[in-house]
Amino acid sequence: MYQLLKGKRGIITGALDNNSIAWKIAERAYQEGATFTLTNAPIALRMGKINELAAECKTIVVPADATSVADLENLYKTSVEHLGGPIDFILHSIGMSPNVRKKKSYTDLNYEWLNQTLDISAISFHKMLQVADKLDVLNEHASIVALSYIAAQRTFPDYGDMAQAKAMLESIARSYGYFLGKKKKARVNTISQSPTMTTAGTGIKGFDVFFDYANKMSPLGNATADDCASYVLSLFSDLTRMVTMQNLMHDGGFSSTGISEDLIHSLTANS
Ligand SMILES: NC(=O)c1ccc[n+]([C@@H]2O[C@H](COP(=O)([O-])OP(=O)(O)OC[C@H]3O[C@@H](n4cnc5c(N)ncnc54)[C@H](O)[C@@H]3O)[C@@H](O)[C@H]2O)c1
Repeated sequence: MYQLLKGKRGIITGALDNNSIAWKIAERAYQEGATFTLTNAPIALRMGKINELAAECKTIVVPADATSVADLENLYKTSVEHLGGPIDFILHSIGMSPNVRKKKSYTDLNYEWLNQTLDISAISFHKMLQVADKLDVLNEHASIVALSYIAAQRTFPDYGDMAQAKAMLESIARSYGYFLGKKKKARVNTISQSPTMTTAGTGIKGFDVFFDYANKMSPLGNATADDCASYVLSLFSDLTRMVTMQNLMHDGGFSSTGISEDLIHSLTANS
């Protein structure tokens, strides 16, 4: 390891179990010398194993529903106090759609659930940024990263209303990135990650098929959660201080590939 995050203080959301992308990011951040707090929604804390991760990373867990401004205020105040100073990095790794979870098709959305999808998966990012900004808890050159998916730009029918959530998430990174750049020289980016076998990922209908499809399409294959962790760490580090307001593809080349030989072989084998 390179001690890339030595002396940096952060907040990591979204580690539910050891398949979670955030779990891998926390482990890598710890190895790179960072100190950070962990957080998740109170209900997830009861179901998940986050305390095991907290013990491994020698830190605390601060419950926070990311849709609640009051919870986020408490998260930041507790984190600054526990870590002993302002925050250098934040990971937003939060996604949930009641419509997808309850298998409502895109042409029969429940609009109350759509509002929840947007609030949990996208507006929570704005809330995290705005509360951090108002409480003035960010250090100069802080780096904030949220995880996105290519369904923000292309249609994946079973991704449902999460496509709108991801489009909004990426837009918030651009909009708020401007203000935090001016004010704090801080960076705000989204990483568009390959399909990854996690609780949120496998909750999508037909996930196995589009995992396999993306793997065959991408010259490098699908990026794993561990690969994503390495990329996120580079963005939290001082090596990427001029990268901001970007949606960064982390997909093994998927987004630039029209068709691959692997896919042609499997399609011709089946015809
Ligand atoms: N798995 C994939 O294929 C994939 C691909 C691209 C992007 N992503 C994104 O990566 C992020 C992390 O997902 P993951 O795949 O690691 O799955 P995961 O299920 O392990 O993580 C999702 C997390 O969101 C948390 N969460 C849900 N509602 C919340 C709330 N109200 N407040 C706070 N936290 C809440 C959950 O408790 C969970 O920890 C998500 O934004 C997801 O959309 C995942």
